Parts: sequence; structure tokens; C-alpha cells
Amino acid sequence: MRKRVAILISGGGSNMLALARDMADRNHPGLPCVVVSNRPDAGGLEKAREMGIDALALDHRIFKGDRAAFEAELTRTLEEYGTEIVCLAGFMRILTPAFIDRWAGQMINIHPSILPLFPGLETHRRAIEAGMSVHGCTVHEVTADLDSGPILGQAVIPIERGDTPGTLASRLLKMEHRLYPAVLRRFAAGDRTKVTIMGDVQEPGPGPG
Ligand code: GAR
Repeated sequence: MRKRVAILISGGGSNMLALARDMADRNHPGLPCVVVSNRPDAGGLEKAREMGIDALALDHRIFKGDRAAFEAELTRTLEEYGTEIVCLAGFMRILTPAFIDRWAGQMINIHPSILPLFPGLETHRRAIEAGMSVHGCTVHEVTADLDSGPILGQAVIPIERGDTPGTLASRLLKMEHRLYPAVLRRFAAGDRTKVTIMGDVQEPGPGPG
């Protein structure tokens, strides 16, 4: 039986699309059951519907700061769809321990840095400012501490001279679209072996002599 996968988003949903496209394969161990956004204007909702996936908005603002009430409604929705795996894909809400406990061992997230480096926001700018020569993304299990659950896979790319947070983010996003589906395939099959993807790291040539 394929595992029922819910994908939570807040924005454009390009990672959600990468996961959904991969799950279009009938032999995939996961099956998308619903896409939920905490923002009604998230572009990803329409893209999911175009793929024939149920997509719902659950506007966190309606709950006026009551995280527990928002999450209770989110869990109710996920349960209604028979969710067995939750993929956070650019879902920009901090989750409470109660929600994380409910989905323990069943919830994974993609984060745009080589964790444990640069948890939190503005990872691309921080990697450049720290003088890193590489950057990357991590898929990990979600646990109570922010961006620090067991690592399931990582992809690495070089930071190039002249990179801005924007250029770096868009190059990394392409890697995210490779990493997340690769990890989900394993995770949905009960395999937690880490996935490692190394981007084109150019060896310097011999030079002019
Ligand atoms: C992705 O880069 C993802 O790694 C990041 O948000 C972006 C969502 O893009 N997630 C986080 O920063 C989580 N802390 P998408 O909506 O196009 O998938």
C-alpha cells in the first residue's frame, strides 16, 4: 500500500511540485493526499489542483495567535485525509511540541542550508557572509528543536564568486527539487539511509603554467 503523503506549504510550492511530480509514478511508495497552505494566496495551491491534488488553505490569521487551535484544525484536516506522512515544503510556521509529537516519526522538512549550520532564516545571505565555499540543503525529520531533527539527506553546491543571496537561492532550489523527492522515496519505503547529492564542484584546471 502506498503511504498517504500530505504536503504543507506557505508559498510558491516548487518543492511541493517536485514531490508531487515524483509521486505521479505508480511505483512510488508515497501518494499525495492533500496540500495545505497556511496562506490562502499561496501560488502552490492552484498548482496542486492543476495536478488533481486536493489543496486547501487554512489561514493561521483566523486563529489570532492561538497556535494550538490552528494546529488542532490542521491535524483534524490531515487526519481526515488519512495522512501517514507530512512533508513540510516551505511551510513557514513554527510548530508547537504538541503538533510535533502527534506526527513524530512521520514528519519531514526541507531546510535551505547544510544543517546543523544556519538553522532559521536568511540562510543564503548568512552562508555568503560567513565566507563559506559551499552551501546546500538538508531534509530532516522534524523534532521539537527547530531545524535539528535526524538528517535524512543533504545536497551541496559551490558558492561562486559574485553570488548574491538571490542567485544562490535559485541555484540551490534546483538541488532541493532533486534531494527532497529522493529522500521521500526512501522515507515512504521505511528506509532512512541518508541521501547525498554533490553538485558540480569544479576542480581547478592545471592553469597556464
Ligand atoms: C525552499 O527554499 C525551502 O527550503 C525553504 O523555503 C523555500 C520554499 O520554496 N524552507 C525554509 O526556509 C524552511 N525553514 P518553495 O515554496 O518554492 O518550495
